[in-house]
Amino acid sequence: MAHSFVSARTKSGSGNSFIDARMPQQPKNGSKKPEVRVRGRRVGSAARMRFMRGWTVACKRYGWSSSVGKIRRTESGIEARVSFVHRNADLELGKTLDDVRGIFGVPSMSYALDPKHSSRATLSLIERDLLLEREGALWPGIDASSLSLWDPIDFGIDQLGQPIRLSVVGHHALFAGETGAGKTAAQNMVIATAALDPTTRLFVLDANEMLWGWEAVAERYVIDDMKAAAEMLDFVLSEHERRNKVRRRHGLDKWSRELADETGEGPIVLAIDEAPEYLRNKACQDVLRRIAARARISAIHTNITMQSPNATIIDTTLRNNFGLRAVFRVADSSASKVALGTSAVDASTIEREHRGVCYLHRDGLVPTRMRTFYPTPEQVRELCSRALAPRPAP
Ligand SMILES: Nc1ncnc2c1ncn2[C@@H]1O[C@H](COP(=O)(O)OP(=O)(O)OP(=O)(O)O)[C@@H](O)[C@H]1O
Ligand SMILES: [Mg+2]
Repeated sequence: MAHSFVSARTKSGSGNSFIDARMPQQPKNGSKKPEVRVRGRRVGSAARMRFMRGWTVACKRYGWSSSVGKIRRTESGIEARVSFVHRNADLELGKTLDDVRGIFGVPSMSYALDPKHSSRATLSLIERDLLLEREGALWPGIDASSLSLWDPIDFGIDQLGQPIRLSVVGHHALFAGETGAGKTAAQNMVIATAALDPTTRLFVLDANEMLWGWEAVAERYVIDDMKAAAEMLDFVLSEHERRNKVRRRHGLDKWSRELADETGEGPIVLAIDEAPEYLRNKACQDVLRRIAARARISAIHTNITMQSPNATIIDTTLRNNFGLRAVFRVADSSASKVALGTSAVDASTIEREHRGVCYLHRDGLVPTRMRTFYPTPEQVRELCSRALAPRPAP
């Protein structure tokens, strides 16, 4: 594909010849289609013109030289492939994304990195926010008679309307956001999947009594008794240690799906609502830290929520053990950074009324703006009674 070049350098500076991406011209009177000229050639449509106009300004502002590949219109806006000259796309875009979004004058913007070339990325300008048109989309898993936690869980849709699925086994998850932002709704999808998977065992710590519906499904369920909470956590950690011995006998590095099939022992889900209530207790915190650091390899998935992430409650080491992080609206940008681990995006800019909208961080990827599905309380209750069909003893 022919690439058009955009550079922030000026003609007089280096004499470099590819500095000729002109600011797109306005259409002449009477001409229906606006056109863009790069190196004197007409190169495209209104979408291209719109993109090149903003991108040229961004390149000038940040001193970037870049080439621009395919530009296409999507359902929600414009998508463009860019390649930086001698620069890392993630570093450049990570620190400037919100400003670049402002240059384009769009409500939201994101980028996906090219896994093969660190200098390349696909930018998405979101002109029409599909997330806001999909309020309360139903969780596809709600009518299933059984599910497997080993399979990715339908979790929501991204800004382009594409499905987002979460593979939770082998990871821990943190859902953060102020009250009413959508954490429990998100956590319910994971717990419901565990409930509909007959090989999965569920443990619940429920400080605010918002997960009470799962009490009958859970192997252990604790509210605010810290001694009982610490005992539950100790038990989960001991399960990890027991599984370690079994998997080593099988010569395996982790508790795999095959080993689960052979032993009949599937994943373990430890769901904790409002985790700071337990993290403030020394005994609970010590064990929880060890579970977070070690238990992933035993197919133990810890899923915690918190309203106000702050560095004293969740330090970087603990946070980084939660590779999956969905951050709904939080109070300020520092809470967003504590939870997401990046300031490339800011979850405090999510509108309060946009419940279920969050930034999803997955290991090594730039957070994706998305909206979770919403299983209603009635659906959760109905699903819970279905899940209460006899489960095999562990
Ligand atoms: N994905 C979603 N789409 C639309 N509405 C949602 C979504 N998720 C949650 N909501 C709405 O937001 C309300 C609050 O959601 P939820 O109970 O999950 O919040 P929370 O973050 O757990 O709050 P708290 O910290 O008080 O427990 C729900 O009752 C529902 O009306
Ligand atoms: Mg809640």
